[in-house]
Amino acid sequence: MPDLAALVDLEQRCFPGDRISRRGFRHMLTRGNAHLLVVDEAGQMVACLVLLFRRGSSVARLYSIAVHPRRRGTGLAARLVHAAEREARRRGAGEMRLEVRADNQPSQKLFSRLGYACVARSGGYYSDGTAALRFRRRLEALNDGCANVP
Ligand SMILES: CC(C)(COP(=O)(O)OP(=O)(O)OC[C@H]1O[C@@H](n2cnc3c(N)ncnc32)[C@H](O)[C@@H]1OP(=O)(O)O)[C@@H](O)C(=O)NCCC(=O)NCCS
Repeated sequence: MPDLAALVDLEQRCFPGDRISRRGFRHMLTRGNAHLLVVDEAGQMVACLVLLFRRGSSVARLYSIAVHPRRRGTGLAARLVHAAEREARRRGAGEMRLEVRADNQPSQKLFSRLGYACVARSGGYYSDGTAALRFRRRLEALNDGCANVP
């Protein structure tokens, strides 16, 4: 089990509300349908990403990404998203989806830069009434050298 206290501490530093609680992390990570990626530096967790899968679905959901304020703007988030896409492909997912707050410009910019398209807006999605923008990106199939190429 990853360090739940460190995950909760990072959530508190990164999100003003709608945070994942210790219980929420534990629940997601023990149900077996979540994949957690973390970056530790000098004994401190500085970034994390939570990826969710649903049985029978080829869609992976990028549920949360957070980078410590001190380490932003250095490409950590982009690295984590690329690693999450590799994991999603490895599990056979063909698409990644996520929601971003309509007022979260750094995050919208990040995902647009990484090839995600904004496909919808859902009003009143977050607890303070802010809308969510829904982003998607198709994932190319993993080339494992076994494809039947004519
Ligand atoms: C959104 C968030 C995850 C982005 O994290 P990040 O690590 O700063 O993201 P990146 O460094 O990969 O990219 C951000 C910027 O840094 C720039 N950057 C990347 N590598 C860099 C480097 N080596 N040196 C300087 N800048 C760099 C990128 O070009 C990008 O700039 P631009 O898009 O303004 O042109 C972070 O701001 C965060 O944790 N926010 C709070 C939580 C949150 O909102 N999460 C998203 C919920 S959907």
